[in-house]
Amino acid sequence: MAHQILVLNGPNLNLLGTREPTVYGSDTLADILAELQELAAARGAELRDVQSNVEGELINALHDARAWADGVVFNPGAFTHYSYALRDAISAVELPVVETHLSNVHAREAFRHTSVLSAVCLGVVAGFGRHSYAVALDALVRHLDAKA
Ligand code: DQA
Repeated sequence: MAHQILVLNGPNLNLLGTREPTVYGSDTLADILAELQELAAARGAELRDVQSNVEGELINALHDARAWADGVVFNPGAFTHYSYALRDAISAVELPVVETHLSNVHAREAFRHTSVLSAVCLGVVAGFGRHSYAVALDALVRHLDAKA
């Protein structure tokens, strides 16, 4: 059966394309998701995506994913750095989650060097711009293939 994957994006990522393009690039979230859909199709995976600027909606999306998803590619935006509620949600749903960042958070402001989520994620991809998502998806599919 095809792997079912949730691509989850947190706050401000709906503004990709116009938001600080020197940091995040000029591609829109729709551009990135279109590429991911192609990659997923080539790998026999199926994607659904959710973007929200609201912490509780991201938590609900993770809870809902328990019912249908095999894994999650998740860019939590700034929630990465302080949301214990999202950390608990990731732990609770027991799905493999790949924490994904466009920018290299470790090369930026000190507050971005801490992730309260990484320890409960399968792995972390950061710093490759839009390609971070493709790398994260590829790694997640490989992980799921190895388990199947
Ligand atoms: C980000 C990095 C976060 O520090 C920031 O708050 C974001 C985007 C990234 O993709 O590089 O919103 O997650």
